[in-house]
Amino acid sequence: MGSIDYSQKIPNNVNLNSDRKLQRALENWQPNFLDWWGDMGPEGAQMNDVYLRTAISTEPSGWANFGYVKMPDYRWGIFMADQVQDRRIHFGEHKGKEVWQDVPGEHRANLRRIIVTQGDTEPASVEQQRLLGLTAPSLYDLRNLFQINVEEGRHLWAMVYLLHRYFGRDGREEADALLERRSGQVDNPRILGAFNEQTPDWLAFFMFTYFTDRDGKFQLNALAESSFDPLSRTTRFMLTEETHHMFVGETGVSRIIQRTCEMMKKHNVEAPDQVRKLGVIDLQTIQRYLNFHYSVTLDLFGADQSSNAAMFYSSGLKGRYKEGMRKDDHELKDQSYKILDVQDGKLVEKEVPMLNALNEVLRNDFIVDSEGGIGRWNKVIEAAGLPFRLTLPHKAFNRQIGTLSGVHLSPEGKPVSESEWNASVGEWMPTAEDREYVVSLMKAVTEPGKFANWISPPRVGINKQPIDAEYVRFN
Ligand SMILES: [Fe+2]
Ligand SMILES: [Fe+2]
Repeated sequence: MGSIDYSQKIPNNVNLNSDRKLQRALENWQPNFLDWWGDMGPEGAQMNDVYLRTAISTEPSGWANFGYVKMPDYRWGIFMADQVQDRRIHFGEHKGKEVWQDVPGEHRANLRRIIVTQGDTEPASVEQQRLLGLTAPSLYDLRNLFQINVEEGRHLWAMVYLLHRYFGRDGREEADALLERRSGQVDNPRILGAFNEQTPDWLAFFMFTYFTDRDGKFQLNALAESSFDPLSRTTRFMLTEETHHMFVGETGVSRIIQRTCEMMKKHNVEAPDQVRKLGVIDLQTIQRYLNFHYSVTLDLFGADQSSNAAMFYSSGLKGRYKEGMRKDDHELKDQSYKILDVQDGKLVEKEVPMLNALNEVLRNDFIVDSEGGIGRWNKVIEAAGLPFRLTLPHKAFNRQIGTLSGVHLSPEGKPVSESEWNASVGEWMPTAEDREYVVSLMKAVTEPGKFANWISPPRVGINKQPIDAEYVRFN
């Protein structure tokens, strides 16, 4: 195990050619995937040679190789992390029993739903990002966008394999539907809200990859704990790819901040309208984008109290983040957890059974993880000697799902009336004018080593290549 067979039509390390029927079904799905990629994948760049990494092994050391590839020729494949010998269920009611190599009948519908929901986010983000290649601030950034896009395509393959292999006919139908829904489409949208939002500019892209791909990290980690072993092995390998996506987000935002601060110092200005005259993105607008992307991503974790979450955990389908490292009974039956509730328009703490609050537990783990990058972004501003600081808004700010959707709050967490909200929302969330301004900066820079005025170069190139390498060759 470990290494991947690239001689087959569908590269894989799951012994696909030992199951002819399954192989044929997936080979029938493959052209539909390629059609979808042609229609909904990166616009106008499909024939370029892109310096991409491709997985060659599932060993953590040296799992990928780098080389020039045309995106439609990328070898999307089916890869699972190695099976762990004698792996046991380690949470919920079946704790201690052997993990499942097949889907237990009673969990079939729920497991299918979990896999479809995860699978749906993967092509959705490619659709959301499909026009960004036309306005990349450098070849380095263009390459990173395409790398993320092809890997989200591969994550779709990962989920489709599970559907085909373990869910028979309904699985195949779900796999087809994954290519039919469209991000933002009114009559057949993607399943989750944040994946129907637009990603119209590169600041939105970097915020999306910082926050929304991080939601992916937490969902995948929770699924990596699953008692359904093929799901665990699949998601474990997906996580190795995910790290780069969040890196692109964090460093992208950081480089925008760096450039803004440089220009503010050089010209000795602080007021947003003067900062904009310098052709860079003012810190206030960056904060508003942050507020938006953070709050829509928080909604992805679902309702703060959920009997589904309790059932997914108790039946062993979905664990907590780092389940194995937690020091408790891993059943959580008599434990409680504090969540926020709304009473008379005010936030109050409320104790609920922990099993019902597991969405909130995962959301809180995500919040802690998100804070790290904010601190590092603020260091860049601090180093420039500027007083501005970015902050994560209150977790109840701008929520559309769960109890907290019932209250209007300022980013600091102060309850406000509907009219106060309407009067202030333009300071808290990106306005049409903010978006128009940011979009006005988005012009493709295609000369190797050159960067748009509104973003600093990265510190290092990809795979030890120089920053001015020709990461994308236009044909
Ligand atoms: Fe993904
Ligand atoms: Fe991702």
